[in-house]
Amino acid sequence: MPITDQGNLSPSVFAAAYPSYEATRAIDDLQAREYAFLDVQGQTYVDYTAASLYATSQLDRHMAVLRDRAFGNPHSTNPSSAMTMGFVARARSEVLRFFNASPDEWSVVFTGNASQALKLVGESYPFAPGDQYLLTFDNHNSVNGIREFARSRGATATYIPIVLPDMRVDEADLATQLDRARPRGNNLFAYPAQSNFSGVQHPLEWIDRARAKGWDVLLDAAAFTPTNRLDLGRWHPDFVVLSFYKIFGYPTGVGCLLARKTALAKLQRPWFAGGTITVASVQGDKHFLAEDESAFEDGTLDFLALPAVEIGLRHIEAIGLDTIHERTRCLTGWLLDNLRALRQTNGQPLVRLYGPLSTDRRGSTVTFNFYRANGRAIDHRIVEERANAAKISLRTGCFCNPGGGEIALGITGTELSSCFRQPEHQDHMTIDDFRLCIDGKSTGAVRVSLGLVSNLADVNRVIGFVQEFVGV
Ligand SMILES: Cc1ncc(COP(=O)(O)O)c(C=O)c1O
Repeated sequence: MPITDQGNLSPSVFAAAYPSYEATRAIDDLQAREYAFLDVQGQTYVDYTAASLYATSQLDRHMAVLRDRAFGNPHSTNPSSAMTMGFVARARSEVLRFFNASPDEWSVVFTGNASQALKLVGESYPFAPGDQYLLTFDNHNSVNGIREFARSRGATATYIPIVLPDMRVDEADLATQLDRARPRGNNLFAYPAQSNFSGVQHPLEWIDRARAKGWDVLLDAAAFTPTNRLDLGRWHPDFVVLSFYKIFGYPTGVGCLLARKTALAKLQRPWFAGGTITVASVQGDKHFLAEDESAFEDGTLDFLALPAVEIGLRHIEAIGLDTIHERTRCLTGWLLDNLRALRQTNGQPLVRLYGPLSTDRRGSTVTFNFYRANGRAIDHRIVEERANAAKISLRTGCFCNPGGGEIALGITGTELSSCFRQPEHQDHMTIDDFRLCIDGKSTGAVRVSLGLVSNLADVNRVIGFVQEFVGV
């Protein structure tokens, strides 16, 4: 429901358009109590896709756990080690419970973040000549990077385009690509459950379809899980990656690879390390990998951080993921409605949105560029400077999602190839070189992303900030 009256941010208009927001009011109290640092700093935080925020009670609970116990390095039977191993096991089972993942079917491999989980899959997936890596244009660079592992072992990497204006995949195109699984070969298909560029939610139904056609499915759930329920009793991808700080802010430095046990068994580790083996010998020149998830956890886990994962998951459960989901849906709808209604002095739209214009099958990540009355884009760096001055934490650029950026900004493969072919750019290119090279086209966009404790005031502040560009 777009508003018609430019600048009418009245709470009553919002309440009429999004009545279900009222039922999420408990988050306002929580925000005042537990996230008060936002008010102290006078900040408007709208960068949740980059990182969520943590409640002060998460810190208190974590410190209480550490203060009362001696935690030793795991991998031993001494009492302090046993204490640590108990908490590691608890963290694993809490993660399984949170995602409704049966311990008979799923393993949790703790990693430093989602990117490390992706690297584990990339380096261990048994790509061989003729095998295939299929992925959507819309992907984080840490998923794109797996193409290097695939190609170095003779596999092909194929991209499925996304299509403007919604930036979704053409279903017919997907069907054609999925039909190309190589019989008895290794076929890996990777996509994000939610785009960190456009907020598009790509269908989870693709998982069963792809697997039925002979693909192993790698689901990047990093941008999806903070505001959406991922039910691994219902969906059965082979691999799922995520970072916990994106869901509940603290701790950083812990992510995981959730893998179906049969899929994990297919991976071939390119090396071994402390903690990953049962036996390794120097003179016998042999090693035996552990037969559980620890075969994938190199060296010592961040064991002091792991109790905070259980605390964070319980924090989210106490608020209710469905409540978080509904609240961010309402706020995203309001933001989209208003951004669509804003006009430049000549009546042309003030912003161009990339991705779906309604809350249908999209999350709370909203990306756009500003336009002057003369039709020229306002450089996203100018927007960022002004946002910084207004104490608004938003993000600009391409968000490590070059495929999304290229499609949104109309940068073609031909332009990029001719740019990268120039002799001076064989091995070296700075972001400024890149800007010059694609001559005049915008190289980035502005991203506002909502999350856990976003509220109406945050969104109205962003809309007010955007309005200040009328006449610029
Ligand atoms: C969709 C998506 N995948 C992967 C990542 C990588 O996460 P991390 O930097 O925590 O490894 C991000 C980070 O923004 C993301 O948004």
